[in-house]
Amino acid sequence: MSNKTKSKPESLRFTPPEHRRFRRRILSWYEREKRELPWRGEKDPYRIWVSEAMLQQTRAETVRFRYPAFIERFPTLAALADAPLDAVLAEWQGLGYYGRARNLHRAAQEVMSQGGGAMPETRDALLALPGVGPYMAGAIASIAFGERCAAIDGNILRVMSRILNISTPVDMPPAQKTIHEETQALVPRARPGDFNQALMDLGSRICLPKTPDCARCPVRAHCVGHNAGTQNALPVKTAKKPPAPYTFFQFRAERDGLVLLAQREKTGLFGGMWELPGFMVEGHMEKADRRRLKAQCAKLLGAGWRPGRELARITRTLTHRKILFVVHLAENFEKSAPQANQDGSLWASGEDFRTLAVSTAQRAAWRAAESALRNLEGKQGE
Ligand code: ADE
Repeated sequence: MSNKTKSKPESLRFTPPEHRRFRRRILSWYEREKRELPWRGEKDPYRIWVSEAMLQQTRAETVRFRYPAFIERFPTLAALADAPLDAVLAEWQGLGYYGRARNLHRAAQEVMSQGGGAMPETRDALLALPGVGPYMAGAIASIAFGERCAAIDGNILRVMSRILNISTPVDMPPAQKTIHEETQALVPRARPGDFNQALMDLGSRICLPKTPDCARCPVRAHCVGHNAGTQNALPVKTAKKPPAPYTFFQFRAERDGLVLLAQREKTGLFGGMWELPGFMVEGHMEKADRRRLKAQCAKLLGAGWRPGRELARITRTLTHRKILFVVHLAENFEKSAPQANQDGSLWASGEDFRTLAVSTAQRAAWRAAESALRNLEGKQGE
C-alpha cells in the first residue's frame, strides 16, 4: 500500500486503520452493553426526532419515562401539528426548556404545511427546521436516515476531548473544530446512528464527567487522554458567567375557590406557560417596593385588588437566570366583581392547575404559597 492511502489526512490524529479498530471496538461494546431505551430500534423519523428533542437537555433516565406518554398523546407528526400548543406544553411539563416543545410543535406545522408531511431527510435540510441545531440534525440524520454524520453534544465533547487529549477549552471554536473533524472521520458509513449512540452511551456509562471508568472502556487503547493520564482533568472549559438574579413578584388571588392564573407570552422565558400573575424585576429584592406592588396588582388583576401579606419566597436556578419567586396574597376589599384580562387569564381549580402547562418552578412557588395559606388559616381557626 502506498504511504498516501495509509497515512492520515493532515489534520486528523488517527489513521484510517485506527478509525476502523475504534469503530469495531465501540460497536461491539454497544451490542453487548447498550441501554434499553424506548426509542432504541425505532424506525419512524418523527418519533426519533421527538426522542432527540427531549434528550437534548434532559437525561435519558428522565426521558425514558416521559417519552412513551408523549408518543401516545401525539403518535404522528400530523397529530402533533394539529394539537394546540397548550396541550404540547402540558405534555412537556417537568422536562424544562419549554422552547424545545414550542419549536417541535412549530416545526411539525412547517413540515405539514410546506413538506406535505414528509420530514427532511438530510442533516443540512433538517437544520432549516425551528429548534434543530447541528447536534439534533446529526442525530436524526444518522439514526433515522443512515447519513454518515456526527452528532456532537456536551457529552460527546467531553468524551472526545479525552480521546483526543484536547487541552484547550471545549466550548471554544478551535477545540470544537478539531473534535468535529475527528468525530466526523470516525463515524462509519455503515451504522452511523448506532455509532453515534454508542458514543452517547459511552459518555453516560463509562466516560463520566467526574470519574471516568477507564478500566471498563472499550476504546481506552485509543484514548490519548487516558494514555497521558490527563482524563480526569478534561474537558477544559472557560469560566461561565453566573446566572443573572431576578425577582418575580406574583399574586395569589382567589374567587369562589378558584385561583387566578395568567398565561405568558408565547415566546421567551416560560413562553406559553401558566402562572400566578406577576411581574419580573432585575436583582434579588429583600423587600418589594410597596407602591410598585400596588400598581402592578391593580394592573394585572383589575381595580379593587390590593397586595396583601407575603406568602412565600423560593429560589430556582435556570441556565441563565437565578429567579427569586415572591408570592403575595391579593385581596379585594371593594367586593367589586374581580376581573382579569379576558385574554390569557383564567380562574383555575386545583384540577385545572394539575393539567395546564405549568413549569416545575411555578408549581413549587404555588405549593409554597398554598401551604403558607393553610398554615395561616389554621392559625386563625385556633
Ligand atoms: N442522548 C441524546 N440522544 C441520545 C440517544 N439517542 N440515546 C441515548 N442518549 C442520547
